[in-house]
Amino acid sequence: MPSGPVITIDGPAGSGKSTVARKLAARLGIAFLDTGAMYRALALKMLERKLDPTDEEALLEMTRQADLQVDCGPTHQRIKLDGRDVSEAIRTMEVSRATPAIARQPKIREVLVEHQRRIGRHLGAFVTEGRDQGTVAFPDADVKFVLDADVHTRVERRLIDLRADGEDVRPQDVLANLQTRDEGDKSRWAALLEPGQAIIIDTTEMSLGEVVDALEIAVRQHTQSKEASSK
Ligand code: DC
Repeated sequence: MPSGPVITIDGPAGSGKSTVARKLAARLGIAFLDTGAMYRALALKMLERKLDPTDEEALLEMTRQADLQVDCGPTHQRIKLDGRDVSEAIRTMEVSRATPAIARQPKIREVLVEHQRRIGRHLGAFVTEGRDQGTVAFPDADVKFVLDADVHTRVERRLIDLRADGEDVRPQDVLANLQTRDEGDKSRWAALLEPGQAIIIDTTEMSLGEVVDALEIAVRQHTQSKEASSK
C-alpha cells in the first residue's frame, strides 16, 4: 500500500472537480475517489424504494443496509449498490435533484465519511473529490484544492455532460439545480477559503489541461519540498 500523497478537491457542482480529479490521479498514477457518487447511489436507492425524502429515520436505515462497493483506481471508478453496478444510473438529472435529500442528513454523512476514510486507508495515496474532503473527511490531507467557476460556466459544463448522456434538459433547470445544491453544499467546504487552508483555483477561463497542469505542479512541489525537508 503506497503512503500518501492524499489530495483533496472540493468546490461547487460543475466546477470540473470529477474530470480534473480523474486526470490528475491518472498523471500521478494513484487512485481517484468520487465521493459524490456515494451520495448519488443512496439517492437512487431512495427513488427506487419510493422513500419519503423527509423521513430521516427511513433514509438512515436504508443507508445502514446499503451495500456500497466503490472500486477505484488511477483510471477508473465503478460503484456498486447492493451488488448492482450503478455507475451510469446515478448520473441522471432525476438523481441529481434527489441527492440533496441524502446529503443534508448529518447521520448519513457520518456513515459515508467513515466509509470514505476506510477506502482512503486501504488506498494510501489518492485524489478525492467532493464537498467536505479537505474539511471533514481528510483534514490532514497533504494538498487541498478548491475548484470554483462562474455559475454560467458551470451550467454550460453540466449541460454538455448531461446531453452527452442523452438527457434532454433545459439550461434554466440545470441552473436551478446547481443553485439549490450550492446553497446546502458550500457550508461544508467554505472554511477552505480562509487564507492558507487550500489552493483555490478559479477555472472559469481555464482549459481542462491548464487546470490539471496547475494541480499537478502544486502536488509535485509539495512532494519535492517534503522530500527535501526529510533529508
Ligand atoms: O459532485 P456531485 O454532483 O456528483 O455530487 C452529488 C451531490 O452530493 C451534490 O449535491 C453534493 C453532494 N455531495 C456532498 O454533499 N458531499 C460530498 N463529499 C460529495 C457530494
